[in-house]
Amino acid sequence: MAKNSEELAMHYRELTKARPVSGDPQKVIESYDELAATYDEHSKFVGYSAPAGAYRRLPEVVPNKQALILDVGCGTGMLGEMLHKDGYSNLYGLDPSDKSCDVARSKGCYATIIQGVARPETPLSFDDGYFDAIVSSGTFQPGHCDQNDIPELIRLLRSGGFMVISTRKASLNETDSYRVKSTLKHYVDTSVLEETSYQEFNDYFGFATEDVTGIVLTYKKK
Ligand SMILES: C[S@@+](CC[C@H](N)C(=O)[O-])C[C@H]1O[C@@H](n2cnc3c(N)ncnc32)[C@H](O)[C@@H]1O
Repeated sequence: MAKNSEELAMHYRELTKARPVSGDPQKVIESYDELAATYDEHSKFVGYSAPAGAYRRLPEVVPNKQALILDVGCGTGMLGEMLHKDGYSNLYGLDPSDKSCDVARSKGCYATIIQGVARPETPLSFDDGYFDAIVSSGTFQPGHCDQNDIPELIRLLRSGGFMVISTRKASLNETDSYRVKSTLKHYVDTSVLEETSYQEFNDYFGFATEDVTGIVLTYKKK
């Protein structure tokens, strides 16, 4: 049955409610706490496909199902669910939204879920190079993960490990305060990372009133 456009718009508005408060990270987290119980329902209704973007790419670079993988901004665990069903058994989730962490935990697909963010000033209690891979879907966008998270993610990734980031292409538009693209480029230029692939996909949202080009970026730590 065709979906009613008002209903689609409502689900889309709910799902993207963190955007209007993106200048205030605390409000962003609060909006995900409010959304946690219905996040998956809204996502499925509007055909949100960032988790699927990362899910498709990861096995191509990390075929080992026992690999230690950190899902940054795991939210309610949509990506973890997909990877766990495929046999990935050492998934760690990280997210500052307490309520989203609770939903992700209830799915039983992560070995560990940590509430917090990965910043040099609040480092996670893992040794350098602990993870074989870092994945992130839908989390690199203004007010969420930004250039300040990248050094700690690089520290946590082992040499030869992969970082797979899926997000909406427009979310990485460079501004004075949002400098993820140029920061990643800096690490490539200084031979810390190698960009191993850049892929675009359509229909990041099946319904939206904006550019819905998705991207999947893959980096290997040298
Ligand atoms: C659009 S949701 C994506 C959730 C999940 N990865 C998915 O694709 O369904 C963005 C998530 O990023 C989290 N977040 C916001 N700031 C963050 C940060 N600095 N580090 C990690 N996660 C963050 C939010 O709490 C939220 O759960």
